[in-house]
Amino acid sequence: MANSHEKRIRTAFTRQAPTFEEERLNTAFTSSVPWLLDHLAPEADDVILDVAGGTGIVSRSLAPRVARVVSIDSTPAMIDEGIRCAAVEGLANLDFVRGTVEALPFASAAFTLVFARFALHHLTDPRRVVVEMARVCRPGGRVAVMDLAASTDPGIAKQQNQMERLRDPSHVRMLTRGVVPQWLHQHGLVVDRVTEQEIDRPVHPWLEQAGTEKSAAARIHDAFVAELDGGAETGMCPHRGTDGASLWFRQLWEITVAHKG
Ligand SMILES: C[S@@+](CC[C@H](N)C(=O)[O-])C[C@H]1O[C@@H](n2cnc3c(N)ncnc32)[C@H](O)[C@@H]1O
Repeated sequence: MANSHEKRIRTAFTRQAPTFEEERLNTAFTSSVPWLLDHLAPEADDVILDVAGGTGIVSRSLAPRVARVVSIDSTPAMIDEGIRCAAVEGLANLDFVRGTVEALPFASAAFTLVFARFALHHLTDPRRVVVEMARVCRPGGRVAVMDLAASTDPGIAKQQNQMERLRDPSHVRMLTRGVVPQWLHQHGLVVDRVTEQEIDRPVHPWLEQAGTEKSAAARIHDAFVAELDGGAETGMCPHRGTDGASLWFRQLWEITVAHKG
């Protein structure tokens, strides 16, 4: 029996699956793949695990370059979309597995590279998943995490998380910047690289992509406009686009790459 958070995840991503990769709504997810691949530095003999891989946007980019990729996710609609795309792309070395990432159904040391992108902020116990990622990574292999990161100011971080949760109720919490590298270090991995990037995104496609309820979308919009007019800080740095009219906001993305000694 799924708990209430698992139901929220299933509802959110069943709704998002058909348009998850639509360029107009989610450019940020597709255009950032090369940035992540640069950090993952895939090698031809890599056996890779994509943790909460969704439709396999990253897995499908990796598959032609490595030995094998496995993408695990809990939402059947996301997996179905991934399988459909992988078939169209003729990828024979990519497997989609349905499961929850809190207890990865794989042997210890089964993978040479284990990564999670935009997954941790949806998890109620992200640290447990980081430990699992380290467990299934082979000695000498790499573990990488790319995710949204929250401000180090707890008040601002609270606002940021409230906005993200209003947009998508399956959002749990963005970790504070720098926390993932600390956790990886505390669980015996050697942190090789931490990179941050601020991303400006248009507000309305971001809301449309998540299927944000009308009243919640209006609250976010109004909070952003109020901040622009000198009102309370949302932590999302609202601003106008280059056209001078459209509404934009800012996210901080962090990539951490570590290896298992
Ligand atoms: C924002 S999407 C990211 C998908 C993919 N990693 C990407 O970057 O394109 C988050 C994914 O996490 C999955 N997810 C959330 N909680 C999960 C859990 N506990 N176990 C497995 N998958 C989970 C959702 O089903 C969804 O596909």
